[in-house]
Amino acid sequence: MVTITLNASLKEYNTFGLSAKAAVLAEYDNVEALKLVLGNELVQQHKDNIWCLGKGSNILFSGDFNGVILHGKIKGIEFIEDTEEKTLVKVGAGETWDDVVEWAVQHNLYGAENLSAIPGEVGAAAVQNIGAYGSEFCDLVVSVEALNTKTLEIENIPCANCQYGYRESIFKHQPFKSLYIVTSVVIELKKNAEFKLEYGNVKTALEGKELNLRNVRETIVSIRNNKLPDWKVSGNAGSFFKNPVIPIEKFEKLKNIYPTIPSYAVKQEGMVKVPAGWLIEQSGLKGFKHGGAQVYEKQCLVLINTGNALPSDIVELSNIVIAKVKEQFDIEISPEVNIL
Ligand code: EPU
Repeated sequence: MVTITLNASLKEYNTFGLSAKAAVLAEYDNVEALKLVLGNELVQQHKDNIWCLGKGSNILFSGDFNGVILHGKIKGIEFIEDTEEKTLVKVGAGETWDDVVEWAVQHNLYGAENLSAIPGEVGAAAVQNIGAYGSEFCDLVVSVEALNTKTLEIENIPCANCQYGYRESIFKHQPFKSLYIVTSVVIELKKNAEFKLEYGNVKTALEGKELNLRNVRETIVSIRNNKLPDWKVSGNAGSFFKNPVIPIEKFEKLKNIYPTIPSYAVKQEGMVKVPAGWLIEQSGLKGFKHGGAQVYEKQCLVLINTGNALPSDIVELSNIVIAKVKEQFDIEISPEVNIL
């Protein structure tokens, strides 16, 4: 199936719920259809301005997009290898990620449960390396299948070549960003319980409950529901900013002034990650409104559309937040959301 729409509304294609239009919206539900899309004359006219979109849960359309929005609907969850310890599963890029987590829990397979209730689709999860509660998508990835837009061949890219990092992969940067369109991902799920419960209040929230997959998933969903706004009620794209990684010396100086400043260890030597939500809250911006945009009261890392925000309200609010945090802490935070 190929669907091409001109001057398409993107309101249903972004969880901020903003009204923007794309010159061309092209959708496909299998690899052959994707090849047809790439050869289409209307798509070719904008070949230097193509954006691959999943659910639109990590994007801010700052205005109309004068290019092609490609939206894949490749579905399927398929067993491909089974051993005593693990199961390899191939998942279509257009599957909703949380449906995959639910599927894994139903099949008694471990490893995906901490990534419960993250909005978005599998292809985007592989590009963005979604993460939460001590797990990252790349912990599960065996390989990523992508269409090479030059050769029109499917390539199988092993996890080690994807250069995964904190919300990072090769697919986010040129030349790979234009070269590859993710069509499916092979993930590895474990057959034996291996829970990660060390993050924040996960363990405490599980107290009194039996430690099993279903309860871990439900606990994570409930922690998220308490902290993060439902995009169907207040448009948002999850964390708007990344948590900054700063030198330990700078962190120690800040700790002298703000003894309660939280931090997370990172792999980079001499560095530490600081929660941007905390920095924003300490900058006095909790609940701060600008036009129809607002810093979410329960988690300052999230910017919400209170109902009729203009894209510019959100862009301006994000600039206000960045400037205030810089002024107060001399730390430059940067958006996690893709701004188009
Ligand atoms: N905090 C505040 N004020 C706030 C927000 C946070 O003081 O307004 C403090 C919390 O009290 C806590 C610390 O900051 O001590 C960390 O907060 P939290 O556990 O909520 O996590 P986070 O670092 O703010 C990250 C991810 C989230 C993910 C959670 C849980 C990023 C950019 N965000 O947030 O991911 O759900 O950890 O693992 O790394 C997303 O990427 O869209 C997302 C929601």
